[in-house]
Amino acid sequence: MIITVLMGSPNRKGSTSILVEQFKQGAEQAGHSCEVIDVCHANIHPCIGCVRCGYEGPCVQKDDVEQIREKLLRSDMVVFASPLYYYGMTAQLKAVVDRFCAYNSSLNRRHLKSALLSVAWNADDWTFEALTAHYKTLVRYLNLEDMGMVLGYGCGTPGMTKSSTYPKRAYDLGRNLG
Ligand SMILES: Cc1cc2nc3c(=O)[nH]c(=O)nc-3n(C[C@H](O)[C@H](O)[C@H](O)COP(=O)(O)O)c2cc1C
Repeated sequence: MIITVLMGSPNRKGSTSILVEQFKQGAEQAGHSCEVIDVCHANIHPCIGCVRCGYEGPCVQKDDVEQIREKLLRSDMVVFASPLYYYGMTAQLKAVVDRFCAYNSSLNRRHLKSALLSVAWNADDWTFEALTAHYKTLVRYLNLEDMGMVLGYGCGTPGMTKSSTYPKRAYDLGRNLG
């Protein structure tokens, strides 16, 4: 499979990137190709809602979303990776998702497999409720096939994350993809 990871943490060496790297290693060892796109350091502007794309057509904004579009439409799987920010994904990753607007039908037709990787400071059982509700709704709306989630409770720093079981869980998710 061709896997595209949308890496939504601004920290290149943070907790999210630990999960992403482990997932990538597992996926590559299972024979998949896995590309990580650092959406936080790319030139990506939020959707301006003009709907000139008509929900499927060229976007008036010419930025790095064009490459992301091409890559996603050639992929078999998309991975959403984000630290938890106020109980949702980061604004940078959400901007990429909102820009799906201009290739909504194409994306839908791809029937991509998908996964969610996230980390949070909190460890309460409700920590990821809003994020997972959003992710599951995206899976349903975008005709994705969920392959799993790794939700890093109590992963507030890279040190906390490294000493947790979540990096191994991210590796296993990649390694055990069909
Ligand atoms: C702006 C901001 C908002 C955050 N919101 C939450 C939150 O709602 N719940 C939580 O448990 N942790 C929250 N955190 C903590 C991060 O999710 C956590 O530290 C995570 O490990 C950061 O991942 P990173 O190393 O990839 O940046 C927030 C951090 C920041 C900077």
